[in-house]
This record gives sequence, structure tokens and C-alpha cells, in this order.
Amino acid sequence: MENFVVAIDGPAGSGKSTIAKLLSKEFDLTYLDTGAMYRMVALYFLDNNIDFNNIVQIKKVLPLIEIDILDGKFILNGKDVSLEIRTPRVTEKVSFAAKIKEVREKLVDLQRKISFGKNVVLDGRDIGTVVFPDADLKIFLIASPEERARRRVKDYADKGMQEDYNEVLESIKERDYIDSHRDESPLKKAEDAIELDSSSMEIGETLEVLGKYIKEKKGE
Ligand code: DC
Repeated sequence: MENFVVAIDGPAGSGKSTIAKLLSKEFDLTYLDTGAMYRMVALYFLDNNIDFNNIVQIKKVLPLIEIDILDGKFILNGKDVSLEIRTPRVTEKVSFAAKIKEVREKLVDLQRKISFGKNVVLDGRDIGTVVFPDADLKIFLIASPEERARRRVKDYADKGMQEDYNEVLESIKERDYIDSHRDESPLKKAEDAIELDSSSMEIGETLEVLGKYIKEKKGE
């Protein structure tokens, strides 16, 4: 198996990262959470009072943003921001950073560099369409907005953060809209991706289905 690439795309909260993490362990793949990279850029903009609409300012600061991923920790300019990038403050703004062409170019480039020569599983919105159009396996993981909101509220609760279900549902719908209607690499299923609706599936079930596809692709 050489440079095996699994691309998992889908909307916010469809379970991509949970599934990608588990697959990475089972099949010894390097896991790359590309959403976390967009979150790091959004956090930098917020902390440095960068106007998300000011492209001149954004072009100036982009080279100053250094992103590293070490032992599963997300390091922004030398600081571990793994927890901060999951806070509602960042979640609310991240899709505004993700629609900027220059931001995407920088991060797609980095995603390809990090993945180079490795067996990887990446999750995001444009992995199968833009980052790795020749990926060995492309999965488009979906779930109803209501189910995704329920999962998000539970995720927050597990981390000790309390969020209102209706607000989360609205924010998910808004993010879906922005992510799938933007000009740059909108969220959409690659023609050759396998679509899987996880709304009524347990994680174990989804994992089993995807595991079968991977084994098939690897010729096992
Ligand atoms: O998966 P997530 O919720 O952590 O993603 C955060 C944001 O980044 C979301 O608005 C979609 C965007 N994103 C993207 O545009 N392309 C990717 N490959 C990954 C995430």
C-alpha cells in the first residue's frame, strides 16, 4: 500500500472527524482534520482584530500564520490552541474565513504537503473535489441538520460547555448554507464519492461500512 488517500467530506457535525479518527487507528493512517486548520486561521483573525472582509489586510497577515500539528495538538504560531478552536466564538466565524480564496490556497497547499508520501485519511469539505481529486476512496458523509445539532450539543456538554439546541441548529443551517454556496470550493459531493447518511446509524455501523470499502480498495 503506497500513499493511500481516504477523503471524507460532508457538512458540519455529520460525524466525519469521529469516523476519520477511528479509521486512522484501525488502518494505521495519518489523520488530518482540515476543519481545524480553517479554525486556526479564524482564531488568528479574531485575536488580531482582522476584518474578515478586508482582503488587503488578510493577504498581509496570511504569511504570519504558522500552523503545526504535533501529536494531535493544533499549534498556532507556537501556541497550543486545540481547545480554543472548538469554542463557539470560533465556530460562529470560521465559515467566513473558509470562503476566502487566499486562505484556502494556503491551507490546501499545507494539507498536500503534510500528506505527501503518507497513507492518510483527511476530513473536510473539499478533500475529494479539490485537495485530492484522485483519492483512493471518497466518502460523502451526511446526516439531517437536527441529528447533527443534537450531536453538537452533546459534544459541547461532554466538554463542559452548555449550548442551546435551537441556536446550534440555526448555526448549523447557516454554516451549511455558507459552505455550500460559496464561490471557492463549495461543499459538494465528488462525482465518484460514496454517499452515506449516518442520521440513524451508530458509529460502529458507519465504521464497519467504511472499513469494508477501505479493505476493498486495498484489495484485502
Ligand atoms: O469541520 P469543521 O466544523 O471543523 O469545519 C470548520 C469550517 O471550515 C466549516 O465552516 C467548513 C470549513 N472547511 C472547509 O471549508 N474546507 C475544509 N476542507 C474543512 C473545513
